[in-house]
Amino acid sequence: MYDVLYRHLLSRFDAERIHQRTLDILETVGSLPLALNLLQHQFSPSVSAAPIKLWGLEFRHPLGLAGGLDKDARCLPALAALGFSFIEVGTVTPQPQPGNRRPRLFRLPEDQALINRMGFPSAGMVAVRKGLERQMPHPVPVFVSLGKNKNTPLAQAVSDYVAVLAHLYAQGDAFVVNISSPNTPELRQLQTRAYLDSLLADLRVALLRVAKDAPPKPLLIKISPDLSLAELDELLELAVSHQVSGIIATNTTTTRPNLHSRYTGEAGGLSGLPLRQRSTAIIEHIRQQSSNQLAIIGVGGVFDAADMGEKMAAGASLVQAYTGFIYRGPSFVRTTVEQLQARMRESGMMRYEEIVGIN
Ligand code: FNR
Repeated sequence: MYDVLYRHLLSRFDAERIHQRTLDILETVGSLPLALNLLQHQFSPSVSAAPIKLWGLEFRHPLGLAGGLDKDARCLPALAALGFSFIEVGTVTPQPQPGNRRPRLFRLPEDQALINRMGFPSAGMVAVRKGLERQMPHPVPVFVSLGKNKNTPLAQAVSDYVAVLAHLYAQGDAFVVNISSPNTPELRQLQTRAYLDSLLADLRVALLRVAKDAPPKPLLIKISPDLSLAELDELLELAVSHQVSGIIATNTTTTRPNLHSRYTGEAGGLSGLPLRQRSTAIIEHIRQQSSNQLAIIGVGGVFDAADMGEKMAAGASLVQAYTGFIYRGPSFVRTTVEQLQARMRESGMMRYEEIVGIN
C-alpha cells in the first residue's frame, strides 16, 4: 500500500519536474547560437509547400505550439528551432501567481493523455514583456494567451484581460482570450452570453485603442470542448458580431471518456488522444456555422500527420499541439509536417490551404 502510494506521488511529482528541466534546457539553448543551429538542423522540418498567409502573418507550415507549455515566454528561439511555425505563450495573468498546489500534472501513457490542473502559474505580464522584448525579433509569429488572476472576481475579469492585452500588445502578433481553462474557478462561465457580450465589447474597444491608427492585430477566443452545441452557437454569434478574428478549438476537457490510467480520477483538464475526435467535431461545427467569418485553429489530440490532416479537413487553417509533443519528443514537428507534405504530394496538392475544409 505504501509502495503504491509512494510511486503514485513520485511519478506525479516527476512529470512537472521533468517539464521544468526541459524548459530550463531549452531556454539555455536559446542563448547559444551553435546549439540553436544544431537543434534547427536536426529537428526543423524541410518545407516545400508555400507558406500560409493569415491576418497579414506568415506561417511556414500549419503546426504551432499550443498555449500552456511556454507560459512565461522563455524559450521562443529553441521552440522555433524545434520546428513550430508559431508559438502561443501564456496563459499570462496581470499579477504573478503561483498556480495550484502540486502535484498538478499527471501522465496517462495508457491513454496517450495528460491531466493538468496547473491553474495559470504565471510570472505576470511585466516579466513576460521583458522576456518577449529580450527575444526580439521573434523567429516565428507569437500568440499571447490572455488570462485573469485567480483572485479577480468574475465581474471584474474584463479588466485583467484588457490589462494583459494592452501591456503585451507591441510584443505579440495575435491575442487569445482564454476563457476555457477548467482550472481557474468559474472561468468557463465567461463563455456565456451574460459575460461574453460585454467582455468582447470591452476588449474590442481596448484593441482599437492600443492599435492607435493601425489595423488591430487579431483577437481570438479559445473555447472549451465541453460546451453544448447551443452554447457554442451563441458564442459564435457573439464572436462574429464583435469582429473576433478566429476561434481556437479546443482547450482541455473535464470529461473522462473511457480512460484506463490510474490517474483518471484526478481533477483537472484532460488533453491528448481522448480529446481528438471531440475537438475535430467542434471544428467541423464551427466551420458550418460561421460561414468563413471566423478562422479556426484546431487543437486537441494531434500526434501525427493523419491527426493534423483531420483537423484541417474539418476546417482548421492552422493546428496546434501540446500533448503530442510531450509524448513524441523533439522530432514531433519534423515528422508530422514532413509526413503531411508527403501525403499532400500523393494527392497532388501543392498548398496547405487546399486541405482546409475539404470534408
Ligand atoms: C494546457 N493548455 C492550456 N491552454 C491554454 O490556453 N492556456 C494554458 O495555460 C494551458 N495550460 C496547459 C497546461 C498543460 C500541462 C496542458 C497539458 C495543457 C491546453 C492546451 O493548450 C491544449 O488546448 C490542450 O492540451 C489540447 O491539446 P493537446 O494537448 O491534446 O495537443
